[in-house]
Amino acid sequence: MQTVLVTGGSSGLGLAISTRFAQQGATLLWVSHDAEELERGRDQLRQLHPDTTVHTLVQDLTEAQAAEQVHAWATSTVERVDVLVNNAGFGNHGPVHTQDVQREIAMIHLNAIALYALTRCFLSDMRARDAGTIVQISSNSSFQPIPLMATYAATKGFVTQFSRALSEELRMEGSGVAVVTLCPAAIADTPFRKVNDMDRVQTFDGLATTTTAEVTRDLFRALATGQRFVVSGWRQRALMWLRPFLPHRVMMMLVRRETAIRG
Ligand SMILES: NC(=O)c1ccc[n+]([C@@H]2O[C@H](COP(=O)([O-])OP(=O)(O)OC[C@H]3O[C@@H](n4cnc5c(N)ncnc54)[C@H](OP(=O)(O)O)[C@@H]3O)[C@@H](O)[C@H]2O)c1
Repeated sequence: MQTVLVTGGSSGLGLAISTRFAQQGATLLWVSHDAEELERGRDQLRQLHPDTTVHTLVQDLTEAQAAEQVHAWATSTVERVDVLVNNAGFGNHGPVHTQDVQREIAMIHLNAIALYALTRCFLSDMRARDAGTIVQISSNSSFQPIPLMATYAATKGFVTQFSRALSEELRMEGSGVAVVTLCPAAIADTPFRKVNDMDRVQTFDGLATTTTAEVTRDLFRALATGQRFVVSGWRQRALMWLRPFLPHRVMMMLVRRETAIRG
């Protein structure tokens, strides 16, 4: 029986991924900063899988030492964590100079630093057992700079580059530990667009818009086949073929279209 820790597991993509693990009989550990949201998510999941054990921890992952606290809680709650899903994250939209500095710094903390620190904590345990999987939720925003989402895209750039390099290091040493980097396009059916005041941004009805069902399907196919880098969504995979042939200026024109506000 697998034990799976999902940050931000109680909503959106985290809940969809958790539900799929629950279907396979996994025990879940969720970390999020909103106690009511954790309860709501647990109720929702148990309607589908009443027998699933879901341990929850209220923790703001932007705080210093958050990863160490999550690790201490997890290791005192369950025997081992087989899968860590670094999913919690948020975004924003608008020119850098208009953004609240503290919110942007919190975003860098959550999307990049907390992911790094949690990876380091659980990687040590997994390496000692020579087994385990770390799933890093990145984004198609990580593939190029994105004006109007500059900081968010940069945090996801870190996630993709760091995680793919780590995955290769583990492969080079023949490790039994896997790091899987998942890059979805804009997901239409999670709270993300509302929470981050992005509801009218074109990308949620854009070139490669996807759904939690499609992203979850792509992730579980990758877990079953040993794939380490997942460009999720068939429309985005098709666009990936074009990327090498697109000059930067053309790419920026496409990005401008995707980040425009619908009238
Ligand atoms: N939606 C998209 O278009 C899209 C596209 C590509 C990648 N992604 C990535 O997918 C991941 C999940 O996003 P989503 O779309 O499912 O959005 P979401 O529903 O808003 O999920 C974000 C999760 O992160 C948690 N969280 C936020 N701030 C936190 C903090 N300070 N400490 C602990 N937990 C915190 C939230 O918990 P609470 O509910 O308790 O606040 C929530 O569970 C993110 O990493 C996002 O960047 C999303």
